[in-house]
Amino acid sequence: MIALDTVKVEIDGPRATIHLNRPDKKNAMNPQMHRDMNAALDAIESADEVKAVVVTGVGDSFSAGMDLEECFLAPYNDPQLFYRTNLVALQWFQRLKAFPAVTVAKVNGFAFGGGFEVTGLCDLAIASESAMFGLSEINFGIFPAGGASWAATHNLPRKQALYYILTGDTLTGAQAAEYGLVNKAVPAADLDAETDRVVGRIVNKNPVTLRLAKEVYERTTRLDLPDAIDYDQAKLWELARLTDNEWITVALKQFEKRSYRPGLGTYRRGVA
Ligand code: COA
Repeated sequence: MIALDTVKVEIDGPRATIHLNRPDKKNAMNPQMHRDMNAALDAIESADEVKAVVVTGVGDSFSAGMDLEECFLAPYNDPQLFYRTNLVALQWFQRLKAFPAVTVAKVNGFAFGGGFEVTGLCDLAIASESAMFGLSEINFGIFPAGGASWAATHNLPRKQALYYILTGDTLTGAQAAEYGLVNKAVPAADLDAETDRVVGRIVNKNPVTLRLAKEVYERTTRLDLPDAIDYDQAKLWELARLTDNEWITVALKQFEKRSYRPGLGTYRRGVA
């Protein structure tokens, strides 16, 4: 357990959990939390066996977004300070999106602004049915910035994205699941178990394959089919080299011996 001022990090073999830890402020992200999140990602990245990172909140909130007082009101009169303060946030948002391990938002309560954004930046998300999401920026006179509009446009259908951007209305975890902002919404009492189940499906996979699967997904969203196929082929060669052809020499050998069925689960790693 690594305890930073505003964030706790647990690393347990291939699993890591980041707990946003300002429950008295609904886990609003102040400048210290932005620095701590960069440090947390550093720590997890250097423990290089981590395959899945869960991000969640302590208490009844995931995150109420940017700390409106410490990030916006306090540094407002000093443009350089204002810029530097918020740059630290933009850094870890982008790192989270491009993180080599699989990222999972476990949304346990309020997820406004930056909290909504973090949900959208993660690869996967599980929410409590009663979680409350919102892009409240329009309610105080700006539009969702710093990647929050990106999170909406890349995780919601167009009409829903525009609706929530333009109205500032909230949506529940159940609605978020219906629109695709999260993979699944479950009763609050089941949130830990369901997140553990999903993480369990990730952590027995080959870590190189997980990383390349994410890279291929991201890149192919921007490619036409011929370019996507060329890219896949090149990445398969990269995968073969980096994993010593484990997919052939271990996984498909087990299939050949009829000792496992690829359609139903992961092969036994570490077995010849
Ligand atoms: N920035 C700074 N402080 C925040 C905050 C934020 N984004 N969100 C909550 N807090 C603080 C509150 O000011 C309050 O602090 P206090 O105890 O010193 O008065 C504390 O957290 C508890 O919040 P409170 O408003 O009393 O809880 P609530 O359950 O009545 O309402 C929210 C919770 C999240 C609906 C409400 O706090 C809110 O609207 N927050 C702002 C959400 C937002 O617009 N985020 C987008 C930022 S980009």
